[in-house]
Amino acid sequence: MRFARGDAYEGLEMRALVTGGAGFIGSHIVDLLLARGYRVRVLDSLHPRVHPHGRPRYVPETVELVLGDVRDRAALGAALDGVDVVFHLAAYQDYMPDFSTFFDVNTVSTALLYELIVERRLPVRTVVLASSQAVYGEGPYRCAAHGVLWPGPRPAAQLAGGDWEHRCPQCSDVVEALPITEERVQPHTAYGISKYALELAALALGAKYDLPTVCLRYSITLGPRNAFHNAYSGVCRTFTLRALHGQPPLVYEDGLQRRDYVYVADVAAASVLVAEHTEANGQVYNVGGARAWTVLDVAQAVLEAAGRTDLAPLVAGDYRYGDTRHTVSDSSKLRALGWRPTLGLAEIVAAYVGWARAQPDLAATYEAAEARMRAQQVLRRAAAAERAIPAHDAAGA
Ligand SMILES: NC(=O)c1ccc[n+]([C@@H]2O[C@H](COP(=O)([O-])OP(=O)(O)OC[C@H]3O[C@@H](n4cnc5c(N)ncnc54)[C@H](O)[C@@H]3O)[C@@H](O)[C@H]2O)c1
Repeated sequence: MRFARGDAYEGLEMRALVTGGAGFIGSHIVDLLLARGYRVRVLDSLHPRVHPHGRPRYVPETVELVLGDVRDRAALGAALDGVDVVFHLAAYQDYMPDFSTFFDVNTVSTALLYELIVERRLPVRTVVLASSQAVYGEGPYRCAAHGVLWPGPRPAAQLAGGDWEHRCPQCSDVVEALPITEERVQPHTAYGISKYALELAALALGAKYDLPTVCLRYSITLGPRNAFHNAYSGVCRTFTLRALHGQPPLVYEDGLQRRDYVYVADVAAASVLVAEHTEANGQVYNVGGARAWTVLDVAQAVLEAAGRTDLAPLVAGDYRYGDTRHTVSDSSKLRALGWRPTLGLAEIVAAYVGWARAQPDLAATYEAAEARMRAQQVLRRAAAAERAIPAHDAAGA
């Protein structure tokens, strides 16, 4: 272990920079760092899609919040001043087809981070970077007759026929999804490629300049503060908004897609844990949930947490071209460091629904989400699969 507590390292108070620290996961990392005695600075642009009302109330007054863009050399350079540990979470994650922005924000900012640390000989001890399960694309599957395969996205014609499962290219049988370990990646979206590229840049530069670096591939993270206004935030948000307004959750495909949803405080704990363990230097870790749940499980958990078990999930066969089918990470490598996911789906969803209920602009957010959903429905019906906008992840990042 590198240091037991933030304030106990060689008698000095540890200073952390969290980029994107006003966001969902970043803000939970900030809370944990403060609780562990760190002094914390946040660099965040307060992106209007995530923060339409400016600085969120949950950012503590004790945090130094620097308003700026991680792509801005002057802003990032100033934010790095006097820092011991960096958590790089600021990112572009959206459904828009502005591909270059993913690389610009996610990858180029990472290179700039190392450039500034090396150029200025900054005394940074560790860098922890937020990567994503999206680096795996569809992930591995196994055909009983033909072995392991890494399929590409399901063809548009297959989805148009309501045939949801991956099939073996040799025998056409349905193949079984395998848990995803860290060894192999196959990103197929601008977001996923930008995240893998940042891992490559960070690990190579970290090794070359002897700067301890750790990359974390978060699974779909759920919990309070999950970008409430941003349509990007996925199923838990949309199901919750509808359930709290007496509407059934609209489930894509057959609802049997599996994901290992993970609680945001567990993701924060993983992020701080790897910063404090020398064994983690130069490593990549999955940060996944306790087990796999289906999208229908999420819908049911939301209805229970919202007290609307009189409603039933609506499974109409709608789908989004580009969504992955099953994506479940194996986090054994991180568990070997002592980390465990603490909450199951029902508790995670209850925490989120409780928080969402308390949001002052719940009704307006619901209206906006419904309008967007209606627009998407029209696009899908009118244009069929080949013109639908590919989503880069089913339910999150
Ligand atoms: N939420 C998930 O399920 C999930 C899953 C896998 C990986 N991740 C990764 O975790 C990290 C945090 O995700 P999140 O869900 O907390 O997102 P979020 O949108 O809630 O937070 C991101 C924060 O970054 C800020 N930001 C965006 N662009 C910026 C820029 N150019 N300069 C400075 N600040 C900027 C935003 O204002 C926001 O506060 C991201 O790197 C994301 O790719 C998230």
